[in-house]
Amino acid sequence: MLTKEQNDRLTQVGAGTPGGELLRRYWQPLCPTDEITEANPKKRIRILGEDLLVYRDAAGKIYCVAEYCAHRHASLFFGFVEPGGIRCCYHGWKYDHGGQCIEQPFEKGNAASKIKIPAYPVQELGGLLFVYMGPDPAKAPLLPRWDVMARDDAKRNIIVLPIHNCNWLQIQENTVDTIHTYYLHGHMSVVKNLPTLAQGGYFYRPITGFDWAVCRWGIEKTCTYGGDKPELEIRPPLIFPNILRIPEGPVEALHFRIPVDDERTRIIWVGLRMGSVPGPTTFEYVPEKPMSYGDEELQTFYGQDRVVWETQGAIYDRTTENLGATDRGIVMFRRMLAEQIDRVERGEDPNVAVVHDEAENKMIVFESATQPAYDNAEHVFVAS
Ligand code: FES
Ligand SMILES: [Fe+2]
Repeated sequence: MLTKEQNDRLTQVGAGTPGGELLRRYWQPLCPTDEITEANPKKRIRILGEDLLVYRDAAGKIYCVAEYCAHRHASLFFGFVEPGGIRCCYHGWKYDHGGQCIEQPFEKGNAASKIKIPAYPVQELGGLLFVYMGPDPAKAPLLPRWDVMARDDAKRNIIVLPIHNCNWLQIQENTVDTIHTYYLHGHMSVVKNLPTLAQGGYFYRPITGFDWAVCRWGIEKTCTYGGDKPELEIRPPLIFPNILRIPEGPVEALHFRIPVDDERTRIIWVGLRMGSVPGPTTFEYVPEKPMSYGDEELQTFYGQDRVVWETQGAIYDRTTENLGATDRGIVMFRRMLAEQIDRVERGEDPNVAVVHDEAENKMIVFESATQPAYDNAEHVFVAS
């Protein structure tokens, strides 16, 4: 159980909030690279409570600035991308790619130099654009080259899921919630005779042990299954702060849980189909549709996870919960989050899953994972 103050600290994502300042020390995915094209060079994206504009110039380079003009708040989405910057459509103020206002047509004097909108560095990896929203781009860590993003020996696909109507932390806590799979996925599939039954047997084994440990990247987790298909399952770690790395049948996957704002989260799924022929990274968007929160949402493992995440509340109130021994991974993760927030408040950099060493960053591989032996697994979309 947390106090209200502790819960706010861990869940708030806006600029200037303790949690938001921590999340800004990590590169966050924006959108698939191929979405920003010569024909459609601009896209609005809300992330960490900030409305951003991603745009590409004639040379194909991609930039990210605050969406709204500092003059009278027109959206720069309708602006003109020009050599050296973007010009607002309303009265023509122009900003360079670093957000500095450089022209104020029809104004006398030189007030432009005093006007600046936020601008953030963008990098590309594996078909995805990432942004660093920390206070000092010069101190940004390296964009981590996770194996799923950096490997070039198999086909990679990106799926942008609909917006989730809840705070990012309840989605990420699920990543260290080892035992939930038995009832939410296994038992649920059997009792309701769901399509997930074909693979649900994997999760419907008695859990005889579970453990967690702090590691370089976040939190390692193991689970021991008994019964007639015993197994010690070693999954890749929770990647701090907001990534799930998981094998899904023949696909090695990353799930980025990106806060849109305090009450909404975008999930970008990236999957590398092992053994496939490499080719250009493809992407797709799952259409937005209102959730009914009825049984019809339970048809997939992902749907089963999503209904519990969202029905916990827009921002889950952790002042009323009753944790048990099976929640030790969650407690460990919250403690790690609180400690890292404290570091940033003291003016230090976070030290979990932050990479500054080019050699280490050649590729960050998670080899220790046991492969889940799902029955009939062509592609199992597992949310965690
Ligand atoms: S609102 Fe952008 S130039 Fe006036
Ligand atoms: Fe799950």
